[in-house]
Amino acid sequence: MSPKLAPTRPYQPLLLRLLHGGTALALFAALFTAYWTYDTYDGRWGGITLPTYRPIEALHGTFGLWTLLIFPAFVIYAFHRGQRRLLQPDSFQKLTQGSKPIWWYTLNRGGNTLALVALAFALFSGKMMDETWLPRGILTAGWYYAHLISWLVMVGAIALHLLLNAKVGGTPLLLSMFTPQFRDQDSPRHWPTHLSQQWAAVQQGNWLQWFQPMTTMLALEIMILVSMVLAWVLPLLK
Ligand code: HEM
Ligand code: HEM
Repeated sequence: MSPKLAPTRPYQPLLLRLLHGGTALALFAALFTAYWTYDTYDGRWGGITLPTYRPIEALHGTFGLWTLLIFPAFVIYAFHRGQRRLLQPDSFQKLTQGSKPIWWYTLNRGGNTLALVALAFALFSGKMMDETWLPRGILTAGWYYAHLISWLVMVGAIALHLLLNAKVGGTPLLLSMFTPQFRDQDSPRHWPTHLSQQWAAVQQGNWLQWFQPMTTMLALEIMILVSMVLAWVLPLLK
């Protein structure tokens, strides 16, 4: 049995913590090794001069792939079960209502959504890279620039995400994403039952309702997922 949690402390569903934590861990490894790859092979915009280590490029590719593997599951979670924490149909209206707490919550939801879009861009542009470019000294390929920019965008999005979460919930909210305790009703014991219920719903054709009504957020989810499929398929056609 899991230890009791204080009722006032923010609580995050276990599945969210696993998918969010897994994505963040793989992404931070990709971000660090990406910087090291830049420092080893490029360095045109300065750097902190890490040791030159040529195999770092392949290691970066591996962490990038780990991120790419877990990310689609996190996207599906965030756009369905976690929908409340992403942009809402009335978000823009709420943003014009002045500096009330709701303004910050709305901005935070925008920040969460931006983090997903930024990561999709980083992963897609990574898959468009050719691993022989940097070792051959080719530093001007369009996709290489796009991929470099994606690093800056991702770091900016994470910084914004952390600042906004700190603003709306402080340290307890930030830490709630990484606490190991979970409530009994949230236990992985129940997951096989949930999965078989979902599967039964799919067999009855209920999945058609997932795409109705076609909202902007649903369109964004589909775009992100399609871009991830293309990220795997396009390099095979080269
Ligand atoms: C140390 C790093 C991170 C911390 C401390 C952190 C913290 C948090 C917290 C506290 C929430 C919950 C907000 C709430 O309850 O309203 C959250 C949600 C979220 N985070 Fe992070 N985050 C981190 C990294 C990332 C990264 C790298 C991404 C990149 C994609 C990301 C994407 C998201 C998204 C999309 C949500 C909303 C999830 C949902 O819809 O249920 N986070 N984060
Ligand atoms: C947000 C940051 C980044 C993420 C999430 C990311 C992710 C990825 C992914 C998914 C791949 C494809 C791996 C494969 O198909 O094997 C990749 C490849 C690559 N990335 Fe990144 N990347 C990021 C930033 C950078 C930066 C700033 C550089 C600058 C040097 C870089 C350099 C490369 C190189 C050279 C490759 C080709 C290596 C290979 O395919 O094994 N990445 N990246």
